[in-house]
Amino acid sequence: MIILKSERDQKAMREAGAIAALVLNEVARFVAPGVTTLDVDDYAAARMRCHGARSAFLGYHNYPCHVCISVNEEVVHGIAGRRRLEFGDLVSIDVGVYYHGFVGDTARTVPVGGCDARAQKLMDVTERALYEGIAQAVAGKRVVDVSRAIQQFVEANGFSVVREFVGHGVGRSVHEEPQVPNYVDGKSSPRLRSGMTLAIEPMVNAGGPGVRVLSDGWTVVSEDGLPSAHFEHTVLVGEGPAEILTCCPETPLRPLP
Ligand code: MF3
Ligand code: CO
Ligand code: CO
Repeated sequence: MIILKSERDQKAMREAGAIAALVLNEVARFVAPGVTTLDVDDYAAARMRCHGARSAFLGYHNYPCHVCISVNEEVVHGIAGRRRLEFGDLVSIDVGVYYHGFVGDTARTVPVGGCDARAQKLMDVTERALYEGIAQAVAGKRVVDVSRAIQQFVEANGFSVVREFVGHGVGRSVHEEPQVPNYVDGKSSPRLRSGMTLAIEPMVNAGGPGVRVLSDGWTVVSEDGLPSAHFEHTVLVGEGPAEILTCCPETPLRPLP
C-alpha cells in the first residue's frame, strides 16, 4: 500500500528532510584525508543529536552505524571502522534521520580532498541522473518514467546502474512502497500521485552493474572492484515539479559582532 501524505505529514517531512540535508552537508565537509570512517559516523551522530534528530538507520535490520559510509568500490551500506580516508577516495555518505516521527533520507558522494577526472565524471553523471529522475516524478506519470530517465542518462554516459538496490517510498518508515528502481524492470509500475514521498537514489558503477555483499553481511561492493557513486533525495510528488525535501536549507548569516 502506498501511503499518501496529508498536509500535516508533508510539513513534518519537510522538517525531517531539511535536517537530513543539513547533516549530510556537515558530514561532507568533515570528510578529509586521515579521518577514519568511525570518526565520520561519530560526527554524524553528534550533528543529528544537535539538530534534535536521531539516526533512522542505526538498528534498522540491526545495521550498526548512524550513517552509511561507502568508500570507492563500496556501493552502499558500508560499515564505519578504523579505515582512514585517503586523498582521492570517493566517499558515499547516506543520511537517514527521524524527526518528529518522519524520515528524511539523502545521500551524496564526495571526493576526499580531490579526485581524478574519471571519478569526477562518475559523480557528476550520478547526480545529474538523480535530477533526470526527479524531473519525471510528477503526478500522473508512473514510477517507471523515473526509472527509465535515470537508466538512460547513466548508460548514455557509459556507466551502469545497480539493480539489486532501489529507491523507495519514505515517510514514517525508512522504506515504504513503492520500490523505485533505477532501471526498467518490465514489471507493472504504479501511477504517481500528489502526496507521495519518494527517495530517489541512483547507485552508479563505473564498470559493470554487478555487486556482491561482503562477509560483514552489509557492505555492498562492485563485483569488478571499480568505483561507485550514490546520490539521493527525498521528494514530494505534486501536480507540478516535485518538491525536493532534502535540499540543504540556507543557514542564517550570523550578525557581525
Ligand atoms: N541506503 C538505504 C536507503 O537509502 C538505507 C540504509 S538501511 C541501513 O534507502 F540499514 F543499511 F542503514
Ligand atoms: Co539513503
Ligand atoms: Co533511501
